[in-house]
Amino acid sequence: MEKKTYLGLVVRETEDKKYERAIEELSIDHLPAGDVLVRVLYSSLNYKDMLSATGNKGVTKRYPHTPGIDAAGIVEKSSSNEFNPGDEVIVTSYDLGMNTSGGLGQYIRVPSAWVVRKPVGLSLRESMIFGTAGFTAALSVLRLTDFGIKAKDDVLVTGAGGGVGGVAVSMLSHAGLNVTALNSLTDERDYLTEIGAAKVLEPADFIDESGRPLLKDQWTGCVETLGGNVLTSAIRSIRANGAITCCGNVVSGDIHLTVYPFILRGVSLFGIDSQNCPMAVRLRAWDMIAGPWKFPWLERLASEVKLSAVDSAIEKIRSGSHKGRTIVNLWD
Ligand SMILES: NC(=O)c1ccc[n+]([C@@H]2O[C@H](COP(=O)([O-])OP(=O)(O)OC[C@H]3O[C@@H](n4cnc5c(N)ncnc54)[C@H](OP(=O)(O)O)[C@@H]3O)[C@@H](O)[C@H]2O)c1
Repeated sequence: MEKKTYLGLVVRETEDKKYERAIEELSIDHLPAGDVLVRVLYSSLNYKDMLSATGNKGVTKRYPHTPGIDAAGIVEKSSSNEFNPGDEVIVTSYDLGMNTSGGLGQYIRVPSAWVVRKPVGLSLRESMIFGTAGFTAALSVLRLTDFGIKAKDDVLVTGAGGGVGGVAVSMLSHAGLNVTALNSLTDERDYLTEIGAAKVLEPADFIDESGRPLLKDQWTGCVETLGGNVLTSAIRSIRANGAITCCGNVVSGDIHLTVYPFILRGVSLFGIDSQNCPMAVRLRAWDMIAGPWKFPWLERLASEVKLSAVDSAIEKIRSGSHKGRTIVNLWD
């Protein structure tokens, strides 16, 4: 008999604007419209999932809601010519987990335009060790390498203990670059060295609030994930004709900067938006993830939790003590 219900994390808004999370039995019939129904085997936890799960209306406008911006699984039903039942697929980005019921439920129903066929060389589980954070790291590395940054160059990665940062450190060191990692909150020095950082900095060694327009030039490239004074310190430390990517706002969304890094050093600043990344770039990034950038110590970044343990993992992200990538096994 056809399965009609499934388990998912549901976030509910209370009358006094608190957000309560519980695992509930949900109906497949209530999933949003879409031409592909996916049985989700694995999801993963990202900074944005924490925002959605804690009532951030910039991410999720309406509750009750099932978060989960990442999902990897098997197509169960499809009215699209592109996908057939049994296909192994990855769904990330677009509106998944924001206002569309997401990967922290055992089923999702989405438009086929959001669905990526799992690349050869990557299991569904591995695809979620990367997830949106790893995909964003790959887009950042793609920007830097397309720009001309190459093996042996000195690069900086910020928020290195987190998901985007940890994957970026790993990919760049695996590609032979000399990686310095900025580690701000919990001491992850041993972990960061194990995943390829040649040097680990603390904020006191790095953040400059003197207002000087340019700092000692140290790096040819940077994957910056935190924003605020971390981003401005990094931009002012990039060498002449180097490049930096910007994807996050963990520290702050505001930046105070002069034009001098751009007009006196020719520094290039690239914005990274994984959510609306065009499909051609998306497929290219997933091929790199499954191919040359798939570093051998992938499992070192991963912690696996059951759906029932997602709640405490979300609290770790909120407190900044989250390390690497947390994947969620939906059927354990
Ligand atoms: N633009 C996009 O498409 C895109 C896609 C994915 C993620 N993002 C953004 O990228 C950022 C990082 O995401 P993520 O998934 O890597 O997050 P995460 O796994 O939670 O990691 C965040 C890391 O930031 C560092 N950190 C420094 N100061 C912090 C603070 N005050 N509070 C919390 N963490 C702090 C911590 O590492 P250390 O202690 O090692 O510094 C922490 O592990 C977020 O802003 C997220 O929204 C953007």
